Amino acid sequence: MSVSSVKNSEGLRAAISVLKTVDLHKSYGQDRVLDGVNLELSAGERVAIMGPSGSGKSTLLHCLSGILPVDSGQIFLGDREVSSLSEDEWAVLRSRSMAFIFQFFQLLPTLTVQENVEFPLLLQQQPKDSRQERVAELLKEVDLEHRRMAFPETLSGGEQQRVAIARALAASPKLLFADEPTGSLDARNGQAILDLLQALSERTQTAILMATHDRQAASRCDRVFRLVEGQLIEDASV
Ligand SMILES: Nc1ncnc2c1ncn2[C@@H]1O[C@H](COP(=O)(O)OP(=O)(O)OP(=O)(O)O)[C@@H](O)[C@H]1O
Ligand SMILES: [Mg+2]
Repeated sequence: MSVSSVKNSEGLRAAISVLKTVDLHKSYGQDRVLDGVNLELSAGERVAIMGPSGSGKSTLLHCLSGILPVDSGQIFLGDREVSSLSEDEWAVLRSRSMAFIFQFFQLLPTLTVQENVEFPLLLQQQPKDSRQERVAELLKEVDLEHRRMAFPETLSGGEQQRVAIARALAASPKLLFADEPTGSLDARNGQAILDLLQALSERTQTAILMATHDRQAASRCDRVFRLVEGQLIEDASV
């Protein structure tokens, strides 16, 4: 983790760089989607990426999490340059320090709420006692203790997204990628999810990078960028 900048003149709070990209490029065949993306995220910061459908928001999240290889450019996680890691090394990195939430929740349908939340901890081979303790704590945080034995299909959209957030945070990630997290929720449930993400990022210092069409969701972030012709342009008006 590098201390990249000091936020105020007294130096009271140093911003810790969680993610940094330098001049990322990505094409699908002849179609250039990312054309020099430069971005830096600090611990606890929430950043929104806006842009029309097809502008490359999901592609960017996939590149930053190593799901898609970039064509050129660098990605730093803390001090570590990771863009040329192997698929296996990326998988380890993702399970240790990254998490995802999606528009359609993507919970495992055959597992209960508590088993879904426990899943990343099982992958990390944590002992049963500490898994159970952590799951109980997370379900309390998202206010779903009473639904712990339910299956995802019996939950509302807002409840499913709260389970997805609990699952995403189970392994205490440094970085949370959210791809349209409010895209299939009504305004009230969308706000509840944004409230939860804000509270959790403030408390745990998890950095959040959110792709969204939703101006309301973007306005809840610390900084907003638009993806225009493959480059990020900061939009201070949102
Ligand atoms: N696997 C792929 N192969 C070829 N082209 C792709 C692939 N995935 C995405 N694309 C193209 O890359 C462009 C960017 O897609 P991407 O999904 O990143 O956009 P997006 O901004 O997330 O869109 P949306 O808001 O609809 O989710 C689109 O033109 C899309 O058709
Ligand atoms: Mg997308």
